[in-house]
Amino acid sequence: MIRLAPSILSADFSRLGEQVQTIERAGAHVIHVDVMDGHFVPNITFGAGVMKSLLGKTKLPFDVHLMIENPDQYLEDFATDDTEFITVHAEACTHLHRTIQHIKSMGIKAGVSLNPATPLDVLEYILEDLDLVLIMSVNPGFGGQKFIPSALHKIRELKKMKNERNPNLIIEIDGGITLDNIKEVTDAGVELVVAGSSVFGADDIEKRVGEFLNIFK
Ligand code: DX5
Ligand code: ZN
Repeated sequence: MIRLAPSILSADFSRLGEQVQTIERAGAHVIHVDVMDGHFVPNITFGAGVMKSLLGKTKLPFDVHLMIENPDQYLEDFATDDTEFITVHAEACTHLHRTIQHIKSMGIKAGVSLNPATPLDVLEYILEDLDLVLIMSVNPGFGGQKFIPSALHKIRELKKMKNERNPNLIIEIDGGITLDNIKEVTDAGVELVVAGSSVFGADDIEKRVGEFLNIFK
């Protein structure tokens, strides 16, 4: 099953609870939570406190995307009963194996994200331990950027690795997803689709979520 994870990075922060309820009502599956520290990426968003303010406002699980240095220091903060995934960047983790085991020890699914220029090779000795791999199709830091086409090749290669070595692995894509390119990425093997500006930037958010879900059918 393919799931849609709207990114609240592009939501109206002054009405965050309301907007999350809108996407839930429309049938979105997961809330993508973009955490940026101004060091790993050139932008600052929000921390666990903002995410936790949504607890009780929605039944949707959180998909936490940590674009931060030293993620180990903050993993516990993001581990709530509603947190389904915590994903860290391979480029930000000196001891990636340890970080992944830490996430899993809290009963949360563990993911690794790769920047557009980072090869799949970095997954060689960790693939079997992962629940999810997030392929970045923009350089992380901002919503509303253009999809980088080489991500498609990367997804297809990762799909082969998944089939051979970790059939339960979830492949996620993040960055520049629109109604025009979503079919191509899901056909390539993506099962969890992040969409920020294309969902929250729409005039009718509920309708836009419905349009995405129709393509998954
Ligand atoms: C980018 C973030 C993305 C972003 C996607 O650094 O990780 O999740 O919100 O936004 P769009 O869908 O607008 O590219
Ligand atoms: Zn993200």
